[in-house]
Amino acid sequence: AAPSSRFAKVRHAVPMLSLDNCFSDDDVGDFVARVMRFLNLPEPPAFTAEPKIDGLSCSLRYEHGVLVTAATRGDGAEGEDVTANVRTIGEVPHKLAGKDWPDICEVRGEIYLGHADFAAINAEQERLGEKLFANPRNAAAGSLRQLDASITARRPLRFFAYAWGEMSRMPAASQWDMVQAFARYGFRVNPRMALCQSLAEMLAVYRSIEAERASLGYDIDGVVYKVNELGLQGRLGFVSRAPRWATAHKFPAEKATTELLGIEIQVGRTGAHTP
Ligand code: IVH
Repeated sequence: AAPSSRFAKVRHAVPMLSLDNCFSDDDVGDFVARVMRFLNLPEPPAFTAEPKIDGLSCSLRYEHGVLVTAATRGDGAEGEDVTANVRTIGEVPHKLAGKDWPDICEVRGEIYLGHADFAAINAEQERLGEKLFANPRNAAAGSLRQLDASITARRPLRFFAYAWGEMSRMPAASQWDMVQAFARYGFRVNPRMALCQSLAEMLAVYRSIEAERASLGYDIDGVVYKVNELGLQGRLGFVSRAPRWATAHKFPAEKATTELLGIEIQVGRTGAHTP
């Protein structure tokens, strides 16, 4: 969504991109084949596979190891300044740990709420007679975009680091090693991220993450595959607003069974029957 006017705007030093989607194994096969063709490789390169967290992406800018700005994605070019709110999130370090971080270090990832915390927030909303949130993602968005940061502070928002924006120096040469660097800087990174050497391995990781989906304790809506080597990512580049080196393999929509208990027909003044 375009940024609202209530928060100051922040222009992203490096645009925040979105991802193309795959909906079947064949789509993923086509993605891998496209990457190989573009790079003129006889074998697939290594890919990371990681859960696609269903939250809000956020860009955290650190200068000399200190958090200076936190911004929402907005339209990808310009987001909202949510620094005061993000400073209340326990999982977002105010200072980077270790010492191998670059002086300008923009860490990107997902702000989200766990299932149990979402249920507790809705129970509290109900007690207060306030509007209930439809899902954890909406509750996370509503909690972050509070003009009063003390309300955000009472919501147990969480953060996984998985990407980056401006870096004055690259601490690693692959997606995998970048995420390991973020862990050293004090961020939580997803323990289910895997390194795959073939299409079969990518699809196997997708199946195993899908099998765990209900027990993770937070919402995910798919698996993201990324070409591991940053050198290859650079050669692949972008098409419009999505990188050629990554794609999201979406899960089918969650299905549930509804028991229809009855249909009431109202007969109107003109004789019209309305169920
Ligand atoms: S990578 C240049 N990795 O999905 C690629 N995105 O549909 C940047 N998301 O806006 C994104 N989990 O909010 C990436 N492990 C993950 C992700 C992830 C969730 C979200 C992110 C992004 C959206 C794109």
